[in-house]
Amino acid sequence: YPCEVIRNFSIIAHIDHGKSTLADRYVKQLLLTNTITKKDKGLNQQVLDKLKVERERGITVKAQTASMFHEKDGTNYLLNLIDTPGHVDFSWEVARSLAACQGALLLVDASQGVQAQSISVFHVAREKGLTIIPVLNKIDLPAAQPEIVALQMQSTFGLDPSDVIQISAKTGKGVEKVLQAIVNRIPPPVGDPSAPLKGFLFDSSYDRYRGVISLMSIQGGVLRKGDKIASCHTRKKYEVTELGIMHPEEVPTDCLRPGQVGFVACSMKESGEAHIGDTFHRVGQLVEPMPGFKPAKAMASVYAGIYPVDSSDFLKLEESIKRLSLTDRSVEVTRETSSALGQGCRLGFLGTLHMDVFRQRLEDEYDANVIITAPTVPYQIVHRDGKTSLISNPTEFPDPSEFASGGRVRAVLEPIVKASIIVPEKYFSAMMDLCFEHRGTDLDWQPMEAPGQADGGEAMSNRVFMSVTLPLAEIVTGFFDKLKSRSSGFASFDYEDAGYQKGDLRKMTFLLNHKPVDALALIVHAKAVDETGRYWVEKLFKIIPRQLFEVPIQAAVGNTIIARRTLSALRADVTAGLYGGHYERKLKHLQNQKESKRKMKRVGRIDLPQEAFFDLLSSK
Ligand code: GTP
Repeated sequence: YPCEVIRNFSIIAHIDHGKSTLADRYVKQLLLTNTITKKDKGLNQQVLDKLKVERERGITVKAQTASMFHEKDGTNYLLNLIDTPGHVDFSWEVARSLAACQGALLLVDASQGVQAQSISVFHVAREKGLTIIPVLNKIDLPAAQPEIVALQMQSTFGLDPSDVIQISAKTGKGVEKVLQAIVNRIPPPVGDPSAPLKGFLFDSSYDRYRGVISLMSIQGGVLRKGDKIASCHTRKKYEVTELGIMHPEEVPTDCLRPGQVGFVACSMKESGEAHIGDTFHRVGQLVEPMPGFKPAKAMASVYAGIYPVDSSDFLKLEESIKRLSLTDRSVEVTRETSSALGQGCRLGFLGTLHMDVFRQRLEDEYDANVIITAPTVPYQIVHRDGKTSLISNPTEFPDPSEFASGGRVRAVLEPIVKASIIVPEKYFSAMMDLCFEHRGTDLDWQPMEAPGQADGGEAMSNRVFMSVTLPLAEIVTGFFDKLKSRSSGFASFDYEDAGYQKGDLRKMTFLLNHKPVDALALIVHAKAVDETGRYWVEKLFKIIPRQLFEVPIQAAVGNTIIARRTLSALRADVTAGLYGGHYERKLKHLQNQKESKRKMKRVGRIDLPQEAFFDLLSSK
């Protein structure tokens, strides 16, 4: 397959606009006509959304790639679909997948119109210089308004309405036309087979037996089995043991040529060695690395501690986390110890959805029973001497005394994001209130629809495009749910990093019997201190079992107590209620008690069942 007959493309879309359905249709078509692999892959299920969580939540989490053949005017084309994840948390993954493409299908739901993420993914694709094919999906729906949405695409993206292809991924109408447009409009990749080898790693997965399987796009040269290659980033050397295309499952081939996209297995044992955005070259033949390399480190935007409900399960949990993070390189893992919860891991995620997905996979695939501490964003501490450090755990946050004159800390900076919201005018003031409640600043807005544009019903007429700066910490807890409920589901939302900004923040600690419980520490904005303190103390009061003595529950900032409740004392004798002195029964009860003692955590002389932490931290 010379470059001229190769097309590399992605589908980009706002969540739920039908990206997986369209990709799935192509892949099914591919499986039906597939003569190479005869394996029945369950044609009735969405092939691309493989993971159980993805199916349950109906969202694509891990990018998957498939190659297909398409015949046009007697020429057989190789079309490589590079799937991109469809949620805001994964916008960086979208960017790196797009780096392996020359074109993108911009899919917009004809009944919903252009939404916040349609705009952000459009810009990423534009910046990468990709050819954009506008596609309107769901034209089979009675609520579809293709003409209006085509005009929106013109006014928002400057795209020519006559270029817009109308399809229904569900019924299959128009999808063939899209394949033709891919061949006609997207330029072939460029790459010289005689040039030095240059392979761009844009995704990786982990196989228990073969180690790391990388997905690479070959930018120059030809990659063959047995080749010795090296990473531009780590300088580590490998031997290619297997390679081929995804059709849609792995199909081994002799080589991968310039412009091709395929899988490469190469004696890479640790998935930590597969750096997304890395460039590989032939050993002894150095090349200029591709731009777009970002060390995974600085990417996490949400951190949380993960602990086993039963602390004796720590090693098993750690092993499961390690295994799972092999399949998801965007998770950062370090060990940490909490006096309340024992041994655990601190994990960094791309966002809260990513965190939820990871936790669910741990539970589903590894049968783990875990406690996750409240999510926290990374804070930047500016020291008096001008040095800065990042912290990812509230317990590391400076105490008020450290801010005082002579203290070591000059300021704390928090991550902020530039958010965009698209919402029908009717809900505009509710959205403004929401933004202000969450410390929004620099609020700006403009009408979305072009003047004089026809009425598109509630979902699509008189919409407002709002932009607002928000602290990241405000959106990691519950913002999205509120946005949806206060706009009857009509608001769409997206955000991008906007650096760090000074924040008036406090560390709140919770004390049980006058002893701080590290796992419960929170970072709170100065204005929210009282409310947050009262809220959590009340919650602790309801969840913590009464003890044999009186237990004060307090929220504090530095030495100041913000809120307090007191649990009254209780006398407990587990065998007291058993009559007749049935020995075996009594023994069983005592054993049960012993068993549950083992799972208890001693905090300030209080025996706290791990389940109490679970209840506390898992309920909102
Ligand atoms: P993520 O995987 O989360 O990114 O979402 P997505 O954009 O891939 O959307 P998905 O393909 O899961 O489709 C969302 C919903 O729209 C599903 O319920 C689909 O069945 C439905 N849908 C997709 N395409 C069409 C279409 O052409 N017509 C109709 N009526 N429904 C469609």
